[in-house]
Amino acid sequence: MSENAGPLWAGRFSKPPAPEAEALGRSVEVDQRLAFQDLQSGIAHVAALHDAELVTAEEADALQAALGEVGNAIAAGSFEFDPHDEDIHSAVERGVTDLLGDLGAKLHAGRSRNDLVATDVRLYLLAITKSIDTDVRSLMRALVARALEHAAHPMPGSTHARPAQPITVGHHLCAHAWALARDRERLADWRVRASVSPLGAGALATSTLDLDPAATAERLGFDGVFQNSLDAVSDRDVLQEFLGLAAILATHLSRLAADLARWTDPALGWAELDERYSTGSSMMPQKRNPDTAELARGKAARITGDFVTLTALLQGLPIGYQRDLQEDKEPVFDAVDTLATVVPALLGAVATLRIDAAAMRAACEDPGLYATDVAEAMVRAGVPFREAHRRTGDLLKRLDVDRRTLRDLTDEEWAAEDVPDGAALLDPDRSIAARPGPGGPSPASVLAQCDALRASLGSEPA
Ligand code: ARG
Repeated sequence: MSENAGPLWAGRFSKPPAPEAEALGRSVEVDQRLAFQDLQSGIAHVAALHDAELVTAEEADALQAALGEVGNAIAAGSFEFDPHDEDIHSAVERGVTDLLGDLGAKLHAGRSRNDLVATDVRLYLLAITKSIDTDVRSLMRALVARALEHAAHPMPGSTHARPAQPITVGHHLCAHAWALARDRERLADWRVRASVSPLGAGALATSTLDLDPAATAERLGFDGVFQNSLDAVSDRDVLQEFLGLAAILATHLSRLAADLARWTDPALGWAELDERYSTGSSMMPQKRNPDTAELARGKAARITGDFVTLTALLQGLPIGYQRDLQEDKEPVFDAVDTLATVVPALLGAVATLRIDAAAMRAACEDPGLYATDVAEAMVRAGVPFREAHRRTGDLLKRLDVDRRTLRDLTDEEWAAEDVPDGAALLDPDRSIAARPGPGGPSPASVLAQCDALRASLGSEPA
């Protein structure tokens, strides 16, 4: 019946929309991803219409059944979108009206696509972020498992990607897990603000109908309801905040990915990616490239771009719904999809990474790694730190000239530097054990970190 009936709002118009204007306005290809949420919102709204005695119990049942039928058709791919279906909300309402005729026309009383879209997208994100959180938890579990395996294995810790001081492999892996733990906290904080229902705000100013938005919010599983109808249809800060935390999460993933690429660089030889997470070259037969890690790193740029896109979109918009806001969904969906591919791939790469603990220990032979221990030994002997730093630096400079290292110093030379036990300092296990404090790199600290991280992950299987 709706064939050529025109858009939902055609009553006030004498001319049909220009095809190019209609093409510009059409978002159904993108927002049909909200179909399920649109039905949820629709079903809750019908209940509100019934509570307000605007539809009978039989009408409410018929409307909700029709919404279900449209939903099934959309899910099965058998729903026929009409050229005038601007967006998923129009399409669902049209589908219900096609099924029920005049009764379908009662569905939209007291609601607007403005409050509807704001509600649908919150419902969508509240649901999908659960699976993002599950994925991040799995990745954290893998990092913690690997950290426990290598809790006591030394490696050169770096600053500026250059050898700095010995740490444990477990400490390094836990560093990534802690960053992800904060991402999960951010997501949990965000949920509090996201779990507020805009439905009932109408186009901007609620409605004259006796609807109860708080009851609708409860039916939809929200924890609260809007405080200001204009704000409810106008702001997209919940999406912006989601993209902000997604960009931070993606940034963390990119840094983990960068470490995977670095560790598996044959020039370093500290680890090897499993073949399933490596790729070959179309030209150079010998290559095994860390594309999984590189792509995980590169995808962060795109998620940051999604945040920037939405932020630029919102900046300077007058309060109230503006059609510009229709552009809010693509960056959100893109970030969701990107995270859904990156996190599992990184998880696989981490879980199957062959860490060469012996190669990492061998790299700890580098005597420069112990220069700070030497300077701190001088401090324990009463030398002011700045002086100890200068003296150690000067010692290294003299050794360089003679093509010697700290390992070549005699007991007399060490004694002359006020570090009588100097030779013993040049040992990774000793150096790490000498920094036993909580949060430090020692095996005991790594075990405690793993316990705390595991506690934050809860008991549910990943
Ligand atoms: N497709 C629109 C969006 O995503 C829904 C709201 C349209 N509202 C309107 N007044 N044209 O923003």
